[in-house]
Amino acid sequence: MANSKYEYVKSYEFEDEIMQPNLIVVRLDGRNFERFSEIHEFEKPNDVRALNLMNSCATAVVEEYPDIVFSYGFDDEYSFVFKKTSNFYQRRASKMLTLIVSFFSSVYATKWKEFFPQKELEYPPSFHARVISCATLEVLQVYLAWRQNACHSDNLCRTCFWMLIRSGKTIEEAKEALKDCQKEEKNELLFQRFGINYKKLPEMFRQGSCIFKTEVEVVVKYDEHGNPIKRLRRKPNIVHTQNIVAKKFWNEQLVLVKELGGFEDEIAKIKTEYVKSFLFENKLLPSTYIVIRIDGCHFHRFSDIHGFEKPNDAQALNLMNTCAVAVLKEFHDIVFAYGVSDEYSFVLRKNSQFNQRQASVYKTDNIFSSQIVSAIVSFFSTMYAMKWKEFFPQKNLKYPPSFDGRAVCYPSEEILQDYLAWRQVDCHINNQYNTCFWMLVKSGKTKAEAQQCLKGTQTQEKYELLSRQFGTDYSSLPVMFRQGSFVYRMKEVVVDHSNIIERSFWKEYSSILEEMPAHTSAANECTQTSVSAS
Ligand code: GTP
Ligand code: MG
Repeated sequence: MANSKYEYVKSYEFEDEIMQPNLIVVRLDGRNFERFSEIHEFEKPNDVRALNLMNSCATAVVEEYPDIVFSYGFDDEYSFVFKKTSNFYQRRASKMLTLIVSFFSSVYATKWKEFFPQKELEYPPSFHARVISCATLEVLQVYLAWRQNACHSDNLCRTCFWMLIRSGKTIEEAKEALKDCQKEEKNELLFQRFGINYKKLPEMFRQGSCIFKTEVEVVVKYDEHGNPIKRLRRKPNIVHTQNIVAKKFWNEQLVLVKELGGFEDEIAKIKTEYVKSFLFENKLLPSTYIVIRIDGCHFHRFSDIHGFEKPNDAQALNLMNTCAVAVLKEFHDIVFAYGVSDEYSFVLRKNSQFNQRQASVYKTDNIFSSQIVSAIVSFFSTMYAMKWKEFFPQKNLKYPPSFDGRAVCYPSEEILQDYLAWRQVDCHINNQYNTCFWMLVKSGKTKAEAQQCLKGTQTQEKYELLSRQFGTDYSSLPVMFRQGSFVYRMKEVVVDHSNIIERSFWKEYSSILEEMPAHTSAANECTQTSVSAS
């Protein structure tokens, strides 16, 4: 297809490949889950249904992505470990983390009813994700030990806290009672005061859950004599164990030893330098326009399986637009979005301090790439799954959709506008081609013949073909198909369609990209969108 003069903007995109022999972990954790669990009345200190739902989503991830050989989770977080030889999406960090978090999120939304049949999802759950690269197997061992330690200590603390609250203490009093309290003292408090033997509490609460595959023999077919033909297949299992990085446990798992290696020593101490590396994140350049572009994963197949109309399905596009509107309502730093087909680009305000204004555990002014991208991709994915029925009441979602995402920084308004022009030129070229292609196919040509007919044709020739052969005036087709959709904030967040390539568009809508004084932006605290309101 023809290149446009705007293609140069691609040079601002950077690759973030994690080189061999680093081991790759993707960790996700619930975004604003404290509030999410309050609203959905999760049991305290642990809700078995919520944990089972997390485990079920993680199992789906392990089944979907065969390169993930081990995963460990507790509370609202999960870590997924890829096999050492993985070449999943050429080991590109943003692809890996967004696909996993997106898939996990849409599975969470689709499975919700299975685990909470009496409860409606009040608003879209979403997750942050990041990639942790471990230079050696020993570093991975420390990482996993660190996460399981967090599970042990968080759970002990939470259990004490909620027992104290149940016994009549206020939140402040309970916090005060647990301040500087050591592990033994907490165990003692539970035992003496509440008659609870901490070690007898369910393993899933105290130890978290591991999911990994074991090789089992399954019958794949029967031969002509009716004898079963068996093959080794890998099946995911949920396992609870006191110490996931103990040699005795790990080295007995054949798949783990084969795909990651065996542990040589026990972990005596969690090295703080390693923990520092687990917390490290890439920053985005300040004072630039940050664009988060998300794109449906294998939507060619997704649209086929769900019988989308060709070349454009208005309902599918409206669903994408509705999700984009919800994203703008949720993330106040996004000032503009442009979408076409299965992709959407979200533009953050130039002086955005996104991360600072999210409920982030890391107190910093820095804008972290993975935090922003994962939150947006995750929120969009859940929204897509939750809103599906509204747009396709007659169709069941056959499998959870997923999106990948990336963040790119553009240093000037002009380059940002060129970026958006590039996306719209792409929309125009693809849509015109697809319109001709499907008209030719519907008229009786094979796909190969239609392709041949269109080979090397220019815009003008396609206009003529449509008009001459099919009596269709291309410019009279729905504007949403021809120009895509843009979303911005007036009093409300609105969807519109226009030519955004021409600079006159930006003159007319000059306020969209205007800088907002820092104090106003700080007041725009992020709020959770209610599903019904979007
Ligand atoms: P990856 O993004 O690389 O995972 O592949 P993809 O299959 O998603 O393809 P790509 O993103 O390049 O293109 C989007 C695809 O989604 C199109 O080629 C179509 O097959 C499909 N698609 C998007 N919107 C519609 C629609 O409205 N109707 C139909 N029939 N298909 C659509
Ligand atoms: Mg796609």
